[in-house]
Amino acid sequence: MNEIGGYFELELRTGNEYHFNAIKLNSGRNCLEYILRARGYKKIYIPYFTCDVILEPINKLGILYEFYSIDKQLDPVLNAKLENDEALLYTNYFGIKSAKVIELSSTIKNLIIDNSQAFFSNPIDGIDTFYSARKFFGVPDGAYLYTTAVLEDEFEVDKSFERFSHLLKRIDLGASKGFDDFRKNDSNLSQQPIKYMSKLTKSLLCNIDYEFVREKRIENFNLLHSNLSDVNQLNFQLSNDSVPMVYPYLTDRFDLRQKLIDNKIYIATYWPNILQWCDENQIEYFFTNSIVPLPLDQRFDFDSIKLIIDLILL
Ligand SMILES: Cc1ncc(COP(=O)(O)O)c(C=O)c1O
Repeated sequence: MNEIGGYFELELRTGNEYHFNAIKLNSGRNCLEYILRARGYKKIYIPYFTCDVILEPINKLGILYEFYSIDKQLDPVLNAKLENDEALLYTNYFGIKSAKVIELSSTIKNLIIDNSQAFFSNPIDGIDTFYSARKFFGVPDGAYLYTTAVLEDEFEVDKSFERFSHLLKRIDLGASKGFDDFRKNDSNLSQQPIKYMSKLTKSLLCNIDYEFVREKRIENFNLLHSNLSDVNQLNFQLSNDSVPMVYPYLTDRFDLRQKLIDNKIYIATYWPNILQWCDENQIEYFFTNSIVPLPLDQRFDFDSIKLIIDLILL
């Protein structure tokens, strides 16, 4: 029976989820576990250039894996021919590799697309694809999966309410005061079984103005690109439907990351584990240290993007 009346819940707009047709799970890594189990893959090729949490489901299931390299356009360098029970994972890096994803979808069998950095990139028919919501929005967890493979298991529905402190503290106390909680809540996502997305995360994802987010990100990206493309050592073109997560600025200025951080522009490193996985002479090692992912999300307006540009160019 529905409970009606009494005290209010957190009041949210009742809009629609962006990926309303997808399977809704608790995390991106668990979408990968779902695919690996449902397809029964025995081995997976993964890029050196990715986050180490990708290994969680692989190790849990005891599946073989082999790393592959990418080139200076962030495209995969592939030598192996995939067997029927082998898959290849490719990441839509920074949300700018949708054209490559389309190309790979017709040339690579058993392709799995990690769109954790490309929330708005459409899935391709027949290609197993997953998304992680917290990379684009203020939610603590939640992921979307497109696949035709089905796991018959019944999963628990996740409960997220204890993972919200960093999101709340960031509003009330500021980013630095919430950072320890962010770390704690982030690590709390490790070693979780596959669950369905929590009702709370789903409600928040129904509350987002996706058109606003999409337009703002593209606008901010274009402003960065029109000012920085001449000095950006990474060459790329954005395809029409792309909505990037960040602006990947490749530079040999090793002081830049710290300069931005000193000006309270927080810059992530994608991904620290690569410095352990790779030798100094591998391109992934170089990218990890030299790509400065400039933020461009929906919270940034013209003036804050302009400040970033000035800090880089002046
Ligand atoms: C490229 C990439 N793929 C997948 C994931 C996993 O997503 P989730 O944290 O939702 O499991 C992450 C980060 O956590 C990531 O950076």
